[in-house]
Amino acid sequence: MSMYYEFHNPVNLISGYGIIPNSIGATLKALNSKRVLLISDRENNSDGTVDIVRKSIIAGGVNVGGVYLNVPRDSSVLVISKIANLCMINSCDSIVAVGAGSVLDTAKCVRLIISQNTNHITDLKGFDMCNRGVDMPLVLVPATCGTGSEVSNVAVVLDETGTNKLDFVTEELLPNATIIDGSMLVFQSSMEILSAAFDALTHAIESVTGRQRNPISTKYACMAIMMIRDNLEYCLCDNPKEEHLHKLMEASTIAGVAQSSSMLGVVHAICYSLGVVLEIWHRECTAEVLPHVLKYDFECCKDLYAEMFFYLVPESVYVSTPKEDRAKVFCEYIQSWYKRLHALVGGSNTIVNLGLSEQNVDAVAKTASRDGLNIINPRYIDLHGIKEILLSIMRGDI
Ligand SMILES: [Fe+2]
Repeated sequence: MSMYYEFHNPVNLISGYGIIPNSIGATLKALNSKRVLLISDRENNSDGTVDIVRKSIIAGGVNVGGVYLNVPRDSSVLVISKIANLCMINSCDSIVAVGAGSVLDTAKCVRLIISQNTNHITDLKGFDMCNRGVDMPLVLVPATCGTGSEVSNVAVVLDETGTNKLDFVTEELLPNATIIDGSMLVFQSSMEILSAAFDALTHAIESVTGRQRNPISTKYACMAIMMIRDNLEYCLCDNPKEEHLHKLMEASTIAGVAQSSSMLGVVHAICYSLGVVLEIWHRECTAEVLPHVLKYDFECCKDLYAEMFFYLVPESVYVSTPKEDRAKVFCEYIQSWYKRLHALVGGSNTIVNLGLSEQNVDAVAKTASRDGLNIINPRYIDLHGIKEILLSIMRGDI
């Protein structure tokens, strides 16, 4: 019997460099929206992106009925209830969100609880527990090249204690439309672009290696890897071309489509946990954690690594690498590429100097071991295995 899988992604993608001023209001109008709630965070409010989005909404003849610009780095069940309440008090009939993953995940959850007629996202815990809810248009605008949330059926939220991440997975989290605009990246530093792009690369790689992979999500993931390969370095230089910025943004969304179907794995279980315990963005950790997990999974994934090798490296490297060495060189190339680009942008942060230490390694390992993504990882892992990976990161073993 052939492998069973499902692939479904109905999000309307509206893509083009510099289209935001003329596209959001028009998109809302086509969705019959009259009064929108705008959601974002302090970073996007202070760098001007919120203002551009607000003007685009108004230019389309749609009213801004409410604004919430204080989404935290890790959204929580309480914040989601608070914003949903704000949405209803202001009689908003639709939602627009601009930002990174936590902003987009928050907006998806706000729409979900309103459409499912509940006050708490925790009422909807469980895998795909939702029926078709009340229609409420949701338009998402990613502001980084690393989230993928704008096309995924997943949202990650902190529980009431602020120590555990809850994963919600349902088709009802998918937005009606996503606006992909590479001009959003001009507000990002080179280091932010590098971290986000390696997060997107990790989404693609974990989509290919995970137990829930399928032929279609693998094609999307490989396309994303190739687009990151061809555009990332150009985006880190002074005055990058519009074409490269936009392709990198598209690559992140394409990796998001793959991830929505295939889910992620241990790299993200560990990085989400590092984000919670160290109070940092998970995307700041993926590039450093990835090589360690690739090594852990090597024996069961080497054929898949060799398959991705073609999409990751320049043609000259592919041609000159013997077939039997491709999986190994794939792993080495990822690490050396990141190191070179990290030096290029003058990056100095590592997970250790962001705070991982002997004092908190057990807490990080414990939180990571409870993440449901470990089930998707191609090789079984437990608390001990996760701690070993964290210790090898601290020792700088790779
Ligand atoms: Fe990520």
